[in-house]
Amino acid sequence: MLFEASPSFPPTGRAVADTSAPVGVFDSGLGGLSVLRAVRAALPDERLVYVADSLYAPYGERDDDFIADRTMAIGEWLVSQGAKALVVACNTATAQSIALVRERLPIPLVGVEPGVKPAALVSKTRVVGVLATAVTLRSARFQTLLERYAGDCRFICQPGHGLVQAVERCDTHSPELLALLASYLRPMLDAGADTLVLGCTHYPFLDEAIRSIVGDRLQIIDTSVAIARQLERLLDAHRLRAAGPSPRALPRFYSTADGESQRQLAASLLQIDARVEHVVIPSRRTRPLESDLA
Ligand code: DGL
Repeated sequence: MLFEASPSFPPTGRAVADTSAPVGVFDSGLGGLSVLRAVRAALPDERLVYVADSLYAPYGERDDDFIADRTMAIGEWLVSQGAKALVVACNTATAQSIALVRERLPIPLVGVEPGVKPAALVSKTRVVGVLATAVTLRSARFQTLLERYAGDCRFICQPGHGLVQAVERCDTHSPELLALLASYLRPMLDAGADTLVLGCTHYPFLDEAIRSIVGDRLQIIDTSVAIARQLERLLDAHRLRAAGPSPRALPRFYSTADGESQRQLAASLLQIDARVEHVVIPSRRTRPLESDLA
């Protein structure tokens, strides 16, 4: 399974949003821009609001409660901005908190999960590499995915320590990064893998770097296009699709950090000269403790 959608809508509270309301897209940082690119291509009439929680990235090095706390806070903030649906464009946040967010937010949502199922379908050697954050790989959701879809495939799961940080500083090609990537990928090649699952939305930005190491020996599974299609189905099911065609609006970008890397990546990846607004989204775990203020 590539994604998780809310089975029912709205579970509680808020009135149904109108079709011209924006879709919220959220990630711990810049990775969700790879999903936003696919959503813009599939659903050009939708208005999009993107939040990068870059001040607190990488989530993959955080504890489970922190990830759930930030995911809820940002989801609630996007609802307060009038979002009609939410894309949790972060495998790590999906793995840790999608059930909680789905239960509490009054809008339909789509999460992302590593493409175990498509990888098992296409691998000929029956050896597949997975690069994802340590949190995603140790999550119960990921273990369930493997149990359900791995079949006779052997999955070599490698935590991508350091890769999110590299993308967050817009490093997609440095010699240090290539050496780190090679140390993750070579053991997969040596084990006979022919397929690589990118289980983190930051990693599609490393596509060229990965190719420079593995050539065409690995087929790369990136689920962004499938996520965009799932969002389309979800909006249709809830009669929330924007009534197009409308003038192509630029997404609105927000960052909890200074936003400079996001602006650079949006320019190079999306060819958008985007203004990135700084936003403060408080949450239980990031509020100063009363003892700190005393
Ligand atoms: N883009 C996030 C993901 O898909 C990165 C998580 C992190 O910040 O470590 O998992």
